[in-house]
Amino acid sequence: MAMNDPSVQAFSPGLAGVPAAKSKISFVDGQTGLLEYRGIRIEELAAHSSFMETTYLLLYDRLPTKAEMDRFSSDVVHHRRIKYRITDLIKCLPEHGHPMDALQAAVAALGMFYPARNVLDPEVQYWSTVRLIAKVPTIIAAYYRLQRGDEQIQPRDDLDHASNFLYMLTETVPNPMIAKALDTCLTLHAEHTMNASTFSGMVTASTLADPYTVVSSAIGTLKGPLHGGAAQEVVEMLEAIGSRENVRPYLEQKLAAKEKVMGFGHRIYKVKDPRAIILQQLARQLFARLSRHGPSPLYALAEEVERVGEELLQAKGIHANVDFYSGVLYQTMGLDTDFFPTVFAMARVSGWLAHWLEQIQDNRLFRPDQIYEGAHGRAYVPLNQRT
Ligand code: SDX
Repeated sequence: MAMNDPSVQAFSPGLAGVPAAKSKISFVDGQTGLLEYRGIRIEELAAHSSFMETTYLLLYDRLPTKAEMDRFSSDVVHHRRIKYRITDLIKCLPEHGHPMDALQAAVAALGMFYPARNVLDPEVQYWSTVRLIAKVPTIIAAYYRLQRGDEQIQPRDDLDHASNFLYMLTETVPNPMIAKALDTCLTLHAEHTMNASTFSGMVTASTLADPYTVVSSAIGTLKGPLHGGAAQEVVEMLEAIGSRENVRPYLEQKLAAKEKVMGFGHRIYKVKDPRAIILQQLARQLFARLSRHGPSPLYALAEEVERVGEELLQAKGIHANVDFYSGVLYQTMGLDTDFFPTVFAMARVSGWLAHWLEQIQDNRLFRPDQIYEGAHGRAYVPLNQRT
């Protein structure tokens, strides 16, 4: 293929900078650190909205009236329970498996109970969306309990989304400040334009596969350490560093080995991720209210890692991203590190479904081209003549 061939010129590794769709759901300006959901700045939504209201905004392109919010919330609350066969499936999974694998398996199986074959039917679209948003937290909490040998805790209809999730983990109604902090984390993680897991879901959606399969595809993509798995890696990195005096040697050694510092860098942001800024403020507020002793040692260490990391990486336009502080917050909420990506998934299911709905309104099967660099015209050699 000649180098002046348009398809060769268009090739961009990882599709960097290549528009894969037209969308009205969210907008990012990586140069200024701007993130808007349906035109509303993420700072506004984090300060004044809730995850459920933000979900409605993402799905339907407007903030709901009270009546609309009450109905949507009530529908989600009443669909939180999962079939006993899904619980039995989760019970059969290895107790030391990764929670994202359990979530992906259970969500794929979910579709078997709710055959959503006609994805263009508005009723199928609405109830699939409600069921996935409602049941993903229940599946996560069920695996959390069952892998520890404890019985699953049924959801409570009187608790909001974040409070109910934390309740299903411990059978204790959470401190409202912690529940609100989790709700804000969910809002911050709900949507982010054409990220890898959203793109993965859209490719599946473009085949007109059902929404449970679409979300199962996206969960698999989110799991990777370069994407939703980063928050877990950050906390494990902080625990490996252990103390302030180890920060610089640890980072310098990692960079000298050409390894990536988890929680840093982003394909789009060339400044600090606006979500990381809000998460930092959230962490400081939580520590100030929860503990007389101020920020957790891990948070203090994270701030030192960010300071030194900035010094070493800012020349390349590499700054802290959303995953840098989220893990420290989740740990403060009592969540285990391997469940961090599932909390990301519990939030991003709203963005995945918003893109699913947008994609199927004007669908075209994703089928990109390639630049072939292999051989042509090779002869088949019988086995007994091969050396
Ligand atoms: C999320 O896309 C989204 O929107 C994702 C997300 C969302 O909301 O959906 O924002 C959520 O996934 C956040 C990112 C979480 N991942 C991590 O924190 C993992 C660490 N980050 C890197 O792997 C990396 O920054 C990526 C994957 C996030 C982005 O990488 P790119 O755009 O593919 O850039 P690259 O890997 O080609 O790196 C370009 C240069 C390289 O240096 P050179 O070889 O040119 O000298 O920057 C360097 C890289 O080595 N670099 C880093 C680095 N990230 C990039 N060097 C050290 N540490 C890093 N973290």
